[in-house]
Amino acid sequence: MRQTEIRRIPVSYPPFAVSEISRMPLRPLANLRILLGVCGGIAAYKAAELTRRLRDAGADVKVVLTANAARFVTPLTFQALSGHPVRAGLWDEAAEAAMGHIELARWAQRILIAPASANTIARLAHGVADDLLTTLCLASDAPLAIAPAMNLRMWAHPATQANVQTLRGRGVVILGPGDGPMAEPESGPGRLLEPHQIVAELVALHGPKLLSSLRVLVSAGPTCEDIDPVRFIGNRSSGRMGFAIAQAAVAQGAEVHLVAGPVHLATPAGVERIDVRSAREMRAAVMQQIPQCDIFISAAAVGDYRPAEIAAHKLKKSGKALILELSENPDIVAEVAALKKRPFVAGFAAETESVESHARAKLERKKLDLIAANRVGGGAGFDAADNELTLLWPGGKEHLHRADKLTLAHGLLERIVALRAKPAKVRRR
Ligand code: C5P
Repeated sequence: MRQTEIRRIPVSYPPFAVSEISRMPLRPLANLRILLGVCGGIAAYKAAELTRRLRDAGADVKVVLTANAARFVTPLTFQALSGHPVRAGLWDEAAEAAMGHIELARWAQRILIAPASANTIARLAHGVADDLLTTLCLASDAPLAIAPAMNLRMWAHPATQANVQTLRGRGVVILGPGDGPMAEPESGPGRLLEPHQIVAELVALHGPKLLSSLRVLVSAGPTCEDIDPVRFIGNRSSGRMGFAIAQAAVAQGAEVHLVAGPVHLATPAGVERIDVRSAREMRAAVMQQIPQCDIFISAAAVGDYRPAEIAAHKLKKSGKALILELSENPDIVAEVAALKKRPFVAGFAAETESVESHARAKLERKKLDLIAANRVGGGAGFDAADNELTLLWPGGKEHLHRADKLTLAHGLLERIVALRAKPAKVRRR
């Protein structure tokens, strides 16, 4: 009897079979009505970017400037950015007729003051209501968050510290301040947090929690493969994308472990960090965490090769070409994806050309559930603050438009949550 020849049809996902989605990244503050109070201080200019970022995150923003703020920045800037008229005083009859201050206080679901000056902090602490912003704070039930910004001595002054304590005791959330260079040639605590950090904190406080009770493992940064005690083979990954994913996952309610190669980044609050150096160390740390995790996101730029031997002493010049023998490193994400019992596995594909086709080939070869593809080089990707991602999964794709890495991280997590919710048969193992 002739044997029936069974021919395997190669699994591939031609473009026509792929459902395409293109959207702005997740809007974690969608429809939240935020009243943004801006106080006088050189950091007031950053409130303009903050307004834009809050709107990008989906919030409806109305801005109130204190009299001192209006000396640093103009209402017109904020009107254009917020899409609403800006209030800068209590006694503007036309504005009061359009929306009275009590109505405005009721409109607000959250009040955010950024930058918050020492003066306004003191007035809030003592219940003073001598201008529109402080009056609104007294007249509103909305939760209040303030991002202080002032000279380091003003911040450290016992009066300011006591006022901040009073506000904390009343449930006011204090965002920052950051520590670093100031407008004057001084450096220390008192700097306004960066606008993207303020948005991240608000998302953590008020955003939807997509990952409650889930455990997420993220790898980030480069790996360094030592050649001798002073030299190594590394790459240009800054680790910022992976750190942003870890931060976003915490904000979405997950328990997060972050395996980080050598990077110069602060650990996001609430993240358990494990520092490693080489690909093999990263593999060991990842494998130890995998049995406990629900989602693994491999954002690290793992070196594919390492020197076959690490020289015990610094290599000396010999006057001739030096040939280094390299051994291949383990492919961590592929190894995790090949496990019988495994979490949802997402990888990254940093490509310099044919981004999408290379990334989809990688998705299939490594048997991932999702791959986030981005173009690197020419100022994009690795070292840049902003990025742009194409998410690919078996049978689908989504383009996340250019945005800061934290916003993209939220978009990525939202897609992962949607894919995990699909019936198992649709997901390829
Ligand atoms: O093959 P390529 O290095 O481009 O694949 C990138 C993806 O694979 C990333 O998610 C990266 O973290 C992961 N990777 C890995 N181990 C390696 C190389 C890459 O986990 N040795």
